Amino acid sequence: MKSLTKLITIGLATGHLVAAQVGPVPGQIKNLVTFGDSFTDTVLVGDGGEAWPVYAASYGSFNLFPFARSGGACSIKLTPFPWPSIFESQLPSYFAQVENGTLSLLPNETMYTLWVGTNDIGSEALLIGQQTPGVTIVDTVSCAMAPLQHAPLYSVNSYPSGYYSAPRNTTEWHLFMTELVNSGNKIAQLLLQNLPSTLPGAHIGLFDSYALFSDMITQPEAYFNGTAPLNVTGAVRSCVYEINQSPAEQGVCTVATGSDKDSFLWYDELHPSEQTNRIVAREITDAIQGKANNWTMWFS
Ligand SMILES: *[C@@H]1O[C@H](CO)[C@@H](O)[C@H](O)[C@H]1NC(C)=O
Ligand SMILES: *[C@@H]1O[C@H](CO)[C@@H](O)[C@H](O)[C@H]1NC(C)=O
Ligand SMILES: *[C@@H]1O[C@H](CO)[C@@H](O)[C@H](O)[C@H]1NC(C)=O
Ligand SMILES: *[C@@H]1O[C@H](CO)[C@@H](O)[C@H](O)[C@H]1NC(C)=O
Ligand SMILES: *[C@@H]1O[C@H](CO)[C@@H](O)[C@H](O)[C@H]1NC(C)=O
Ligand SMILES: *[C@@H]1O[C@H](CO)[C@@H](O)[C@H](O)[C@H]1NC(C)=O
Repeated sequence: MKSLTKLITIGLATGHLVAAQVGPVPGQIKNLVTFGDSFTDTVLVGDGGEAWPVYAASYGSFNLFPFARSGGACSIKLTPFPWPSIFESQLPSYFAQVENGTLSLLPNETMYTLWVGTNDIGSEALLIGQQTPGVTIVDTVSCAMAPLQHAPLYSVNSYPSGYYSAPRNTTEWHLFMTELVNSGNKIAQLLLQNLPSTLPGAHIGLFDSYALFSDMITQPEAYFNGTAPLNVTGAVRSCVYEINQSPAEQGVCTVATGSDKDSFLWYDELHPSEQTNRIVAREITDAIQGKANNWTMWFS
């Protein structure tokens, strides 16, 4: 069983309508514009340190324009959360800045990324039937990507946590999440493959963090460098709650500190760790810079 998330990268390259090259060329991209949720938010950071876009901007010397916000789902019309969604909040805020001239980016030097889905199919949405009636994985994935059934929150051995403390069958959650994630992944790839014909001139790619995270689980020693035993199942900060204990209360927490933190794949029950995000940033930067990369598929 593997974890899955994927990141869509879309680089607009106007003036290259007959361009044959697939993906951006080295040195082309100078700006990084990000949309998404707490995996990508640079203000309310989910990994206990710096978020991946901050590392990517530093590794690749990109100007960063971060629009991702924690809790963000694709659209509140699909999964009604009181959080800043892509369609009703993040994109309007981006376009408002473009329209009043605050933001003026050359399309041929700008890469846009979207990494979202955790909140669309997670413990508050599809998994427990909280979505708008009739909305299925196909509807949410046509905007978004899926989360991680291998995270402590969705593993077979999951414990009650600040994210979910009601009684549940963890085996069923894990199996259902695996289904959601794998079908969502496939649908997203097929939809993205069709996108280039509607966006001539754009470079459209898929960064396969499913495969990257799977490789981290298979050979943690290639990625993790902390001083604690390498750990791809637990979390830097794991908090065990009583059944039905309010998330507003404090669970019993075990917290790794200092150089021990970089031994973990997960930061908490749901979010990747800072070291995981450094790796994500490193690999995404390579892809954006047109370097050989094992996790990126360019469709145009
Ligand atoms: C992008 O296009 C502008 C003008 O349209 C040009 O001046 C610039 O050199 C181009 N950038 C790259 C990296 O090709
Ligand atoms: C442009 O729009 C953004 C988003 O609405 C706003 O925060 C900013 O103050 C505006 N800037 C100007 C110069 O109007
Ligand atoms: C939990 O779900 C699994 C898979 O459907 C099932 O085999 C198991 O019996 C369930 N456990 C309980 C305690 O209901
Ligand atoms: C991994 O971390 C968890 C804390 O989240 C801990 O309970 C577990 O023992 C650790 N596993 C290993 C192999 O160190
Ligand atoms: C682990 O490697 C990252 C680079 O991927 C580095 O920034 C970090 O400081 C290293 N952590 C430790 C504890 O050496
Ligand atoms: C891709 O993966 C292979 C096999 O693990 C490895 O040998 C190679 O160095 C990787 N390439 C890059 C560019 O990371």
